[in-house]
Amino acid sequence: MSARTGATPGDRTEGRIVFDQVTKTFPRQGKRDEPTSALRGVSLDVAPGTIFGVIGYSGAGKSTLIRMVNGIERPTAGHVVVDGVDVGALRGSALRTAQKRTGMIFQQFNLLETVRVRDNVAMPLRLDGVGARTARARAEEVLDFVGLGAKAGSFAGELSGGQKQRVGIARALVRNPRILLSDEATSALDPTTTAQIIDLLRSINTEYGTTILVVTHEMDVIKDLAHEVAVMADGEIVEQGTVLDTFLHPRSPVTRDFVTTVVPQGLPDRVVEHLGGDGLWRLLLVDDEVTQPLLSGLITEIGVSVNMLHADMTEIQDHTVGQMIIKVTGPEERVAAARAYLEQRVVHVEEVAR
Ligand SMILES: Nc1ncnc2c1ncn2[C@@H]1O[C@H](COP(=O)(O)OP(=O)(O)OP(=O)(O)O)[C@@H](O)[C@H]1O
Ligand SMILES: [Mg+2]
Repeated sequence: MSARTGATPGDRTEGRIVFDQVTKTFPRQGKRDEPTSALRGVSLDVAPGTIFGVIGYSGAGKSTLIRMVNGIERPTAGHVVVDGVDVGALRGSALRTAQKRTGMIFQQFNLLETVRVRDNVAMPLRLDGVGARTARARAEEVLDFVGLGAKAGSFAGELSGGQKQRVGIARALVRNPRILLSDEATSALDPTTTAQIIDLLRSINTEYGTTILVVTHEMDVIKDLAHEVAVMADGEIVEQGTVLDTFLHPRSPVTRDFVTTVVPQGLPDRVVEHLGGDGLWRLLLVDDEVTQPLLSGLITEIGVSVNMLHADMTEIQDHTVGQMIIKVTGPEERVAAARAYLEQRVVHVEEVAR
């Protein structure tokens, strides 16, 4: 995958994040509460230089998971190994040193509104004891990279949401981290601004080989940004794989629900009811399959009638993915021949269930 070519060769642990059977239980808050199991035996291996997405509904444990990578939360059991170091075991200055190797961006940006943009970005360096002039020069360099050089002297409170997130990204990058963590960084932004921020994150990954761990509840973000995805529910990883494969073959019901938000999977019940069972199929097509003369082939070569009910197309990780829902009618054995014809030519054929 071209986006991975920026990964640093050689050191296999730099930028790598490993979760090994990680459990997190929060103690009960009040007398009537039960302890909360936010993570239950989570194992993940995020390869250096990849963009890894974790998707799940509210409360699934996404923030708890990502906060372990920079040691803001500690596992109750298991290990989180970042750059070859067990972060949960670190304390004091060793922990602070490890934290400098990751940058984090947030849904609400977390900027100081009455402080100038350049000083917001320079803040981590100032906290590290870097001199004001050097820190500001580095801040301006990163602001140029995120396309906000012209706003360095503005107050953070004067910027739009999309601009604030660019500042948040600049601040996260100012220490030149190997790993960037993103907790719902685009959830407060409109679709156009979201797309721009996604482009920026992709260019950080390609240009610097930065590992990016993204947690989100938006499947669109996964589709446009991530190479690999893990689906979380109730503190567990229920499914994991490449983004394309997960879109084409979602296995668990939660994954299907998320995929449906991007690729709608069905017809209105009334239409399915009306058309009835046999020969009502949903086809998935990838890349060259999308442009084949499939339907004319079914009609002229197989001799069935075809009614096209739905078609759409999207881009997933540099692949074109098309979907069609068709109703094929004809003698039983011709309908079976049509199914065989399609199965030879498209990646996936399934009945549309009533
Ligand atoms: N500091 C805490 N103390 C007690 N319980 C917590 C704490 N942080 C999280 N939890 C609980 O852990 C579970 C997972 O929370 P988490 O914030 O990780 O979910 P999330 O997937 O990020 O949700 P959202 O999409 O709403 O941000 C929830 O049930 C939450 O109430
Ligand atoms: Mg969260």
